[in-house]
Amino acid sequence: MPNKCLLFVSAVPNKLLDIHAALKIDNICVPLSLERFSQGSVIAIDGIIINIDFKNVTAVETVKESLQNVDRNKTFLVFVVDSDKAGDLTEAFALGADEIIYRNSPKLALKQDWVKNTALRIRNLISSYDARQKQPKVLKQAIKSGDAALSYIFNSAQSGKLIKIQDLKKDIVSIIGALDEYGLDAWLELVRSHHSATYQHCLIVTGVATAFGRSIGCNDKDLERLSIGAMLHDVGKSKIPVEILEKPGPLDEFEWVIMKQHPNLGREIITQAHDFDPEVLDIVTHHHEYLDGSGYPDNLKGSEISDIVRIMTISDIFGAMIERRSYKREASPQQAYDVLSSMTTKLEMPLVRAFSEILKTFQKAA
Ligand SMILES: [Fe+2]
Ligand SMILES: [Fe+2]
Repeated sequence: MPNKCLLFVSAVPNKLLDIHAALKIDNICVPLSLERFSQGSVIAIDGIIINIDFKNVTAVETVKESLQNVDRNKTFLVFVVDSDKAGDLTEAFALGADEIIYRNSPKLALKQDWVKNTALRIRNLISSYDARQKQPKVLKQAIKSGDAALSYIFNSAQSGKLIKIQDLKKDIVSIIGALDEYGLDAWLELVRSHHSATYQHCLIVTGVATAFGRSIGCNDKDLERLSIGAMLHDVGKSKIPVEILEKPGPLDEFEWVIMKQHPNLGREIITQAHDFDPEVLDIVTHHHEYLDGSGYPDNLKGSEISDIVRIMTISDIFGAMIERRSYKREASPQQAYDVLSSMTTKLEMPLVRAFSEILKTFQKAA
C-alpha cells in the first residue's frame, strides 16, 4: 500500500491515536483538532477520518463548511458513529461519508480488537479508493447512478413516498451499460468497500443478477426488469432498524426475527407503488423462498417459485457471501459457488450450473 496522508479530525484528537499507531507504519497520520481543520491548514490529504458528536450542531456545521474546501474526487471520507444512534448514520452519509466506523461496536468490546479492526477497514478503504481512481469514468458514473437509485428507493420508502419506475430507469440503463462494457469483476471491485452494508449488498446483487441474466440470454426488456428487481429486492429493509442493518457483527436470534420481516415489508411498499411489473413484486416478496419449502415468508415450494425469483435467489446468496463486512472475511467466488452447488434441495441445479459462467469472469480477471 503506498504512503497516504490521512487526517484524524476530532474534538479530542488523542482519542484516535491508537488507530493512528496501528496505521502509521506505511501512512502519514495527522491528528487534528476540529478548530485546526476548520482553518484549512492542511493540504494534499488522501483521506479524512472524522470523529465528532453529531448532537453538537456547531461541530456538524464546522465539518460541513470545512469539507467544502476539500477535493472530494481525491479525498475519501470516513466518519466514526455510534452504532446505536440511527441519526448519526444518516448525518454521516448526508455529509458525504464513503465509509463508517462504529465507535461502540458491541461484538468488538476489546479495545485492541476494535483498533485492529478499524485499521483494517481503513486499509481496505485505501486500496479500494486507489482502485476506484484507476477505473473508467463510465463505470464510476454507473456506481453513482446505483447510489442515487438506492438512496431514492430507501429514502422514498422510509418517508412513505411512492417509488416510481420512471425515476429509476435512467440509472438502471447506465448500470446495465457499464456492466456490459466493463464486466462484473470491475463493478464489484468498486462497490465492495465504500458503501453502507445495505447499499453494498444491493449494488453487488444488482451486478451479479444483471451479469447472470445477460449470460443466460435474457432479452433487454427482461434484463431491465431483473436489474430493477435486484435494486429493489431488499427495499423492505428500509423499515428495519439501522442498528440491525448495519450491525458490525453477526445478528442474534431476536435480530434475525426482525430482519426476516423484510420481504413482507417490501411486498407492502411495492404493492402500494402500483408502478411495477408483477415480476418485480414477486422478486421483492419471494427472494428468500427455497424449492423444498424451507424458505420465507410464504413457504413456497417447487413450481410455485417463478424463474425470475430463482435467478434472484441464486444472485442474492452469492452476493451476500462475496460482500465485504468488517467482521467477516468475504468468501472467494469459488467458495461462494461451492455453497450454491451444495444447496441441492433448495436451488434449481441447472441454473446453478449455468451460473458457473459468472465464475469464469473472475478466473479471467485473477
Ligand atoms: Fe433479502
Ligand atoms: Fe438481499
